[in-house]
Amino acid sequence: KGDPRLQAITEAIRVVPDFPKPGIMFQDITTLLLDPKAFKDTVDIFVDRYRDMDISVVAGVEARGFFFGPSIALAIGAKFVPLRKPRKLPGEKISEYYVLEYGTDVLEMHVGAVQPGERALVIDDLVATGGTLSAAIRLLERAGAEVVECACVVGVPEMIKGSCILNGKSLYILVEP
Ligand code: PRP
Repeated sequence: KGDPRLQAITEAIRVVPDFPKPGIMFQDITTLLLDPKAFKDTVDIFVDRYRDMDISVVAGVEARGFFFGPSIALAIGAKFVPLRKPRKLPGEKISEYYVLEYGTDVLEMHVGAVQPGERALVIDDLVATGGTLSAAIRLLERAGAEVVECACVVGVPEMIKGSCILNGKSLYILVEP
């Protein structure tokens, strides 16, 4: 922290009040993608952090983890594995449920995409309750991978700290809303 690039990254994220419903301050990272300098800095910060951690798989959470994960994977020489919403993956897959404010959702991963013993990084745009990341961690661990860390562009660290939802996994957040 104290990295001068973080201020510009924060400013490039548009905050939309009351979207998708009243009371929610939506963190719109599509405006970050429109700013090539801030977008590149975001990817570079993750790449600098993970390049020497012996990570062989970057797992990105649909949909917005797909904006960042592949660039990071290519730069650190890892493979990219999409963790998808239901009914998207054609092959044999495993599924994990997670709780939303109303109801549940599912993330799925192809069997065989990750081998036992692989070292994985999970990437998403944003962490709120951590429910989505917890499902991602469970998928990777079921495949025998070790989740080295979860990383998000935006998040409220206090919300996750002290909660056991990430099962003790370390969480790296670039900016706070
Ligand atoms: C958002 C966000 C994260 C998740 C974080 O995705 O991109 O994946 O919510 O919330 P949590 O920490 O409380 O689980 P969303 O569920 O809106 O799906 P989308 O990216 O497919 O629109």
